[in-house]
This record gives sequence, structure tokens and C-alpha cells, in this order.
Amino acid sequence: MGLKTNKIIVILTGAGISAESGLNTFRGPDGLWENHRLEDVATMDAYLKDPQLVWRFYSMRRIQAANADPNAAHKALASFAFEQSSHFDTYLISQNVDVLHQRADIHNRLDPICMHGSLHQTRCMGCEAVYFDDYAYFDLSGNYAPQETTLCNADQKASASYLHHYKLEYRNFLPISPCCKQPLRPHIVWFGEHPMYMEKIIPIVQKANIFVTIGTSGVVYPAAGFLEMAKINGAHTVCINQEMIPQSSLIDEFIQGNAGEKVSEFLESLSKSS
Ligand code: APR
Repeated sequence: MGLKTNKIIVILTGAGISAESGLNTFRGPDGLWENHRLEDVATMDAYLKDPQLVWRFYSMRRIQAANADPNAAHKALASFAFEQSSHFDTYLISQNVDVLHQRADIHNRLDPICMHGSLHQTRCMGCEAVYFDDYAYFDLSGNYAPQETTLCNADQKASASYLHHYKLEYRNFLPISPCCKQPLRPHIVWFGEHPMYMEKIIPIVQKANIFVTIGTSGVVYPAAGFLEMAKINGAHTVCINQEMIPQSSLIDEFIQGNAGEKVSEFLESLSKSS
């Protein structure tokens, strides 16, 4: 008798899954980019032109993310990955940088692939070394006031790559890397830069039996192309979102509504069917 193999479920999340945690989405009426001109805060040019503005923006996002809590959708994904591990191999790919998936992953079974980086990491502009760094360097009103947030967990704070084990130097109120004494930038993918971990993501999407998008508008590539890639390779495709997305013709199952309610309902029905 052949070994029963697990079904592979691949989930792609976007800003919509964190909306009920109080974090702005990007293209909604209160869209994050609408508060800030895109080219003012999320590009290398912006950083080179005004690194303090960019660090004020990401400090504000670190404080916001630290003050938010994982919602029912984040928790349902983490529970499913843990409880259904004998029936499903669960892979989570996220476009979000808010660390809410990681904070919900109390059983350490989700291990999200964060293709746009993460608010709790910072990178050396000299050698590209990545540090855990949950400091907000400016307060919400934009004044220089370094403060620790809760974005890093105990293991990350204990690791050698936690930036604040080193006597941090600053230049014009901005952190300088302990390795190269070069400026440190947020470890976030900026517009015009390549998403991270694509060599890991593509094979995962191609082997999905079930591919689910949650809370993403499906307009930013390459993430917006994953649904078609999964479909071509035979996956059953599901979209959980407040509104239909452009890839509607490729979606086998569209579940309209709020992620906080619909994700756990969907995962429960999936668990029952396994
Ligand atoms: N439940 C489910 N869906 C929701 C909810 C909710 N509570 N709130 C909003 N949505 C949906 C919206 O209808 C929208 O389709 O989530 C989607 C959010 O879309 P975007 O704001 O475009 O965010 P996202 O798709 O993650 O953007 C992708 O674009 O700007 C870049 O790097 C940025 O990672 C981001 C990428």
C-alpha cells in the first residue's frame, strides 16, 4: 500500500489580512501610500535623498505594527498548519512586512516566506548583512527618539544578529552598521527592487494542490502572477478577499468577505474534507 502523501496548500497573503488588526492597506481609501507619496518613502532614490524621512516612515510603521495584534485570520492559518500537519503541507508566502504572521505562529509551523522583507529587520548598505532590529528611531510625531518595540521575539533578541547587542553608532540620528560602519536601511523591498526568496517561492507555487490568495488586490507582480502559475500546474485556486481581483477567470472558488471571519471558516471546511 503506497504511503499517503499530504496535500500541498500554498497561501499568499497581502495587506488585507492585516486590515482587521488596524493596519492600513496600500490601495484602500485610507491607503498607506496615500498618506505618503510613494516615491517619497519606498525607493532607494528616496532613501539616498532623505534617509531621515525614510527612517521616520519606517519607524512609524514599526510602532504601528508593534501596537497591532494578529487577528483571527493570522491565528487560523497558524493553527491549521500545526493541527493539520498529518494531512496538509502548508506553505505561507506573504507580501506583508508587519510581522503579524510570525507573531501568530506560536507553534513555529508556518515559517512565513516574507517576499517583501520585514519591519523587524535592518540591512547594512555596505555588506548587506541583515540584523534583527525592532527599534523605532523616531517617534510618531517625527522627533528623534529611539525606542524599542515588541517586533522581535525572545530568540531573535538573544541571537548574535540582534542589532542592539552592539554599541550602536549614529550619524545624523541614523543607525550605522557595526560590521562596516555604513548606513543601515530597512530590510524591506522597495519599488524597483526584486522581491526576496523567489528561487524558493516558484517551486513551492508550482507544486501546490490548493493555492489560496488572502487579502491581496492581485495587481503587483510577481506575486500577482503566482495564482496563474499554480493554476497552470493543476492547483485548485481559492481567493478570499473583500472584492474580486483581476485574475477572476483563474479562480475556482471566490469567498467574498473579511479575512477575520472567512479564513477560519474556509480552513475548517478544508479540515473536514481531508
Ligand atoms: N478582509 C479581506 N480582504 C480585505 C480586507 C479584509 N478585512 N481589507 C481589505 N481587503 C482587500 C482589499 O479589497 C484589497 O483587494 O485586501 C486587498 C489589499 O490590497 P492592497 O492594498 O493592494 O495590498 P497588497 O495586495 O498586499 O499590495 C501588494 O503592493 O504596494 C505594494 O509592497 C506593497 O506588498 C504590497 C504590494
